Amino acid sequence: MNPIAPAQPESETEDTWSPQSWKSKPLYQAPAYPDSDALEQVTAHLSSLPPLVTSWEIERLRGQLADAAEGRRFVLQGGDCAETFSECSPEYITNKLKILLQMSLVLTDGLKRPIVRIGRIAGQYAKPRSKPTEKHGEKELPSYYGDLINSAAFTEESRRPDPQRMIDAYQHSAMTLNFIRALVDGGFADLHHPEYWDLNFLGKAGLVPERRAEDLHRAEALGNAIDVMEIIAGRKIDQVSLIEFYTSHEGLSLPYESALTRRVPRRPGYYNLGSHLPWIGERTRQVDGAHVEYFRGIRNPVGVKLGPKATPREAVRLAEVLDPDKEPGRLALIGRFGAGKVRQVLPGLVAALAQTGRRPVWICDPMHANTVSTKSGKKTRHFDLVMEELLESIDIHEELGTSLGGVHFELTAENVTECLGGASGISEKDLDQRYHSLCDPRLNYEQAMEMAFAIAQRMEAV
Ligand code: PEP
Ligand code: CO
Repeated sequence: MNPIAPAQPESETEDTWSPQSWKSKPLYQAPAYPDSDALEQVTAHLSSLPPLVTSWEIERLRGQLADAAEGRRFVLQGGDCAETFSECSPEYITNKLKILLQMSLVLTDGLKRPIVRIGRIAGQYAKPRSKPTEKHGEKELPSYYGDLINSAAFTEESRRPDPQRMIDAYQHSAMTLNFIRALVDGGFADLHHPEYWDLNFLGKAGLVPERRAEDLHRAEALGNAIDVMEIIAGRKIDQVSLIEFYTSHEGLSLPYESALTRRVPRRPGYYNLGSHLPWIGERTRQVDGAHVEYFRGIRNPVGVKLGPKATPREAVRLAEVLDPDKEPGRLALIGRFGAGKVRQVLPGLVAALAQTGRRPVWICDPMHANTVSTKSGKKTRHFDLVMEELLESIDIHEELGTSLGGVHFELTAENVTECLGGASGISEKDLDQRYHSLCDPRLNYEQAMEMAFAIAQRMEAV
């Protein structure tokens, strides 16, 4: 989509950042709202509503990301490609929390580091698209840009961007987060239930026999470790307050993000209080664009996706603009290069950043550059390529003496058939069975747990 032209010329010399200063820069991936007064009214209303997260949670996350950059913690970021309002239900939310918790336990056991759990959740409602319109037969309509912007049904009415949806997105984020907080505080994770581990899939054909034995052993050992910790603590594990959970989403809709950007008492600067870790997508990371302008001024840690075309110069420039003071934990660079490209691109980026004395958190998103379309037009990803990019990224960091600080997955706890391969051997003809994503294909429960076991094994600390 072509950018919307700047409203005023920019000033090169003074720092004129404000939560609204992005309006003077080219804005990419912006929906054309037909009624600008309605948009104004909605954002004014949004800016009067209570925040969803707090500045002290954000500061705490920043500290933990600084640790991840130094190899003292490891980030597990994951969730849906696009959340939807219709899936804001107790079952879905519980399952999403559960799978991230389970994966994080497997990772803790393997890496012997605390895991920073960050959901793509409670706000992941706006999606960039590669094509601004979608065509079925003769009919061409605006693409679906996520529930925050329009609705997925292929009708003119549904696809029209409606600012009121920002209020709905805020409310669904609040409901989701409210339930997550209640679950976390209320001791949701009873790790003693054997079904919690749900490792039946390990017995399925397709999994390499030696790994299966090791994974089962790891699961068993984890169960024992939990028992021992509880005996020592004299309390249930979920009461030992080990469970911390953060939210993240792509900060695509700047009217929405800037309306949730606030000053807080006794801390300098502005915080985006709609999410702990908003990130800039691959399609909106232009250094002189509106998104980078908005993100450079907020105090939150900031994620940036970097694709296979990212150059070392570009990455350094982005880091200079977004993190001028080289603050520990400020910048998470989320690489998504593709299994065939990661070896060509990542080493140059890591070396260039290191040369400038920066230590960003390097996160591997092995999903987004491994997307292919089947003959029947279904978007999918092959488990083996996802795994390949992930393992290659770990190797590259080891070779360069840096540390992979975390992983970023599109996953769901549901038994969907969206990605090919994995232990249960999902094939192209299975994709039609349970393909529920409105956007990108997600790893299902088994595939996601397999990833966690593989990382634990590969990064095993003894
Ligand atoms: C996403 O994370 O869903 C996404 C669109 O990613 P990217 O910006 O890396 O393409
Ligand atoms: Co996606």
